[in-house]
Amino acid sequence: MTTVKAVRGTRDLLPPETALWNRIEATARAVFARYNFGEIRTPVFEDTALFARGVGEETDIVSKEMYTWEDRARAQSEKTQSLTLRPENTAGVVRAYIEHKLGETGQLQKLFYIGPQFRRERPQKGRYRQFSQIGAEVIGPTSSGSESPLRDAEVLEMLATLLDELGITGWTLHINSVGSAADRARYNEVLREALVPVAPRMCVDCQRRAVTNPLRVLDCKVPEDQPIIEALPKIADSLDEDSKQHFAGVIAALDAAGVPYTRNHRLVRGLDYYTRTTFEFTHGGLGAQNALLGGGRYDGLSEAIGGPKAPGIGFAMGEDRLVLTLQAQEAARPEPRHAYIAPLGEALNPAALALARELRRGGLTVELGDGNFRLKKSFEAAEKTARRIVILGEDELASGILTVKEFATGIQTKVPRSDLPAVLAAPVSA
Ligand code: HAM
Repeated sequence: MTTVKAVRGTRDLLPPETALWNRIEATARAVFARYNFGEIRTPVFEDTALFARGVGEETDIVSKEMYTWEDRARAQSEKTQSLTLRPENTAGVVRAYIEHKLGETGQLQKLFYIGPQFRRERPQKGRYRQFSQIGAEVIGPTSSGSESPLRDAEVLEMLATLLDELGITGWTLHINSVGSAADRARYNEVLREALVPVAPRMCVDCQRRAVTNPLRVLDCKVPEDQPIIEALPKIADSLDEDSKQHFAGVIAALDAAGVPYTRNHRLVRGLDYYTRTTFEFTHGGLGAQNALLGGGRYDGLSEAIGGPKAPGIGFAMGEDRLVLTLQAQEAARPEPRHAYIAPLGEALNPAALALARELRRGGLTVELGDGNFRLKKSFEAAEKTARRIVILGEDELASGILTVKEFATGIQTKVPRSDLPAVLAAPVSA
């Protein structure tokens, strides 16, 4: 019989890697709490119309990558409904904001989420069909200050802090403004015209985009097209006065806070809801899929899905990519256990469990061996996982003096049982 395997583009996460996932999530939760964000959990599937209207019918995500199905009617009176596994979480958060009338509180809503997203993309390193995002959204009625450039800068400053606290070094923040919906429409036309004479010299994808969606030409990675793209008009020149001022406000606050960034005129992003500020944090260690995270402002999204005016800004980090980056930096090596307890003979197993319980309840991480193992095997197992081995034989049990060996130095000592927690918690002497 053929074996059943995990579906292409999906993965099992196993220890010790899952410890790294948990550490990343714990750090993110701690940082979000300091910035006064609360957690939101929205359903993993939604009405397909949410993404069509929110993310945009013409985007790659909606037109090619969604997992969509017709949900069967269970009764004659029920209609079938088109449902979709969420490809991203912003549309769901804004739907929940509208559904629960969070705008009526008059307060700025600061919400974060951690969870799986689904896109039917071609899998490669850092790109999966089920992946996890850690994201946050700041949204509210205009009176709550949701439109202020200070909110954009604060989100970016929080991200710089979060990446630093995760231990991710060498990131670059790319920032741009795509202006209002009207600015964007104007720029689209400017680009369309500018592309007419040059498009025939570009790649086939660009020739198509030049007609269907000129903005997407800016994402092209084909080396031969780059000089042509660099010479195209920039979106900054199509922004109206309000958008320019807003962007200047974001930049001034970033400068004051000392958050480093580079301006990237080509950063237009692949989702239709963006207005004004857009950004990405990239990392050189990731290869082709180099975006650690992306985000931006979406002042018209709530209205696009039938809600009240509710400007907002947010981001989503690719958790899988954070993991890859930390693994490559070797900052991810799992902490070795404090101790491995090796009972000498099966008869000492119960006493060893009692000792392990005592130490674990004292906060130490302890691996418990088995008296059925030969001592050599216990030593080999211990050295792989723990800093020290504690040997528990009949004599040790009777006298209350245990033998402890520290692997890094090879030093073996006799330790009274009452001193054991302190000795095991101490850093290795070398
Ligand atoms: P996005 O740029 O589509 O934005 O995705 C954000 C991040 O999710 C990417 O930078 C990447 O790290 C990760 N990501 C995306 N697709 C995959 C994949 N197939 N495999 C692994 N990681 C992936 C959004 O999703 C917006 N909702 C972000 C946002 C929130 N904008 C405003 N608020």
